[in-house]
Amino acid sequence: MEYRTDLEGITAGMLEGFFVGWPDPPSEETHLQLLRNSSHRVVAVDPNAGRVVGFITAISDGVLSAYIPLLEVLPGYQGNGIGQELVRRMTGELDYLYMIDVCCDDDVVPFYERFGMRHTNGMILRNYGRQSGD
Ligand SMILES: CC(C)(COP(=O)(O)OP(=O)(O)OC[C@H]1O[C@@H](n2cnc3c(N)ncnc32)[C@H](O)[C@@H]1OP(=O)(O)O)[C@@H](O)C(=O)NCCC(=O)NCCS
Repeated sequence: MEYRTDLEGITAGMLEGFFVGWPDPPSEETHLQLLRNSSHRVVAVDPNAGRVVGFITAISDGVLSAYIPLLEVLPGYQGNGIGQELVRRMTGELDYLYMIDVCCDDDVVPFYERFGMRHTNGMILRNYGRQSGD
């Protein structure tokens, strides 16, 4: 597996299969755009398959704080340590900051606790009409 923080040579066509379970998922082009626009991103590339199989993004002010909005590993690649490696690399990139926040469903709480994260309250707003980003 190759882990990369740059997107050189990554095309929209290499981003098939993400946003599993989203009713109105972003297109592959929109996915590539949000990876580009994020202040930080790490992608896991399977060089044999020529595709991205996992990614994590962060948005940061570069001074105190960062938020991790998205982390996903393709279903066929889960359970192989890729998600863990993406989080490890991203928290490494952000380790000079005071705060790194994530909002997640209950079932993913034990996963994030492995990295020393603590459970707290989160408040969210969602505009479902804008879920695809288009
Ligand atoms: C959560 C997710 C990214 C984990 O990726 P993954 O590549 O399957 O995870 P890893 O193989 O790196 O798992 C590392 C360890 O965490 C454990 N783990 C994985 N998911 C877990 C979960 N939901 N709860 C508790 N432990 C979990 C694994 O069992 C593994 O343990 P081990 O080292 O003792 O074997 C992946 O399941 C996913 O993409 N889920 C759908 C999207 C999602 O929920 N993203 C988070 C949004 S905030």
